[in-house]
Amino acid sequence: MTATLLDGKKIAAEIREEVGVKVKEFVQSGGPTPCLTAVLVGEDPASQVYVRNKSRACEKAGIDGRTLRLPVETTEQELLDVVRNLNADPAVHGILVQLPLPKDGNGGKGFDERLVLDAVDPRKDVDAFSPVNVGLLMQGRPRFLPCTPHGIVQLLHRENLSVAGKHVVVVGRSDIVGKPMAMMLAQRDGSCGPKVANATVTIAHSRTANLAEICRSADVLVAAVGVPEMIGGDMISDGAVVIDVGINRVADGAGGYKLVGDVNFDEAAKKASAITPVPGGVGPLTIAMLLHNTLLAAQAIFK
Ligand code: GUN
Repeated sequence: MTATLLDGKKIAAEIREEVGVKVKEFVQSGGPTPCLTAVLVGEDPASQVYVRNKSRACEKAGIDGRTLRLPVETTEQELLDVVRNLNADPAVHGILVQLPLPKDGNGGKGFDERLVLDAVDPRKDVDAFSPVNVGLLMQGRPRFLPCTPHGIVQLLHRENLSVAGKHVVVVGRSDIVGKPMAMMLAQRDGSCGPKVANATVTIAHSRTANLAEICRSADVLVAAVGVPEMIGGDMISDGAVVIDVGINRVADGAGGYKLVGDVNFDEAAKKASAITPVPGGVGPLTIAMLLHNTLLAAQAIFK
């Protein structure tokens, strides 16, 4: 089988366009310009690229995309004060603390990431990382859907790929992708995204025995482990749908680097019925859904 390419970049562009139209309508009806403020501590090159891309995407959708750049010397208390000031600022609707926070920050001690993320007002938590928003998601009544899993749900929906009754294997159990992804696909009623529900979900991870065998039993495989090309062709059954969340920088053999996913694309594409590429698959959808959440935050606060 030769896989159909699932073009996340194209779908993300559609969603961004749709959000842009809704932002315009919201502002024309008297709403404030939605504002997303990203907080970036330190100089990590990958984080700088992410934040720049977010800010550009905001501007294109009519959202005020601000970035607060803080030096690596910033203390945890100063960072908490920044977050609390943003919580209190009525012009700011969405707050995003860019991860990872630098390991050498906070006077060399590093930051307590949990403490910082927990300080974000849940109504402005457009990443959906706060325990309140995670809890609401678990109960099937989400305020915000976490951006990467929601992007995947949108991709499946818009490509007419149903998961109902199917076996989905999610490889990875992170708070950001693996855990919420599994929960959203297993929901009874599609409350966690359009019509994409009722899957039978297995969460696999680095300690899973017989990982290859479990992956081979998947109708839909979601790889979110952060290990370059860990999922080989022998771990994919004929006709499976493969969603690759990994974005790993590896040496390209010519002194530079290239991006690869958690799936060995060339091997997997020979087995799968459909597959997301890296780059251009899941990545662009995360930002599109962040814009969506920022609009939702502005609408909810404006009410
Ligand atoms: N770093 C990489 N991806 C993300 C994300 O989705 N949100 C935040 N806050 N940081 C990230």
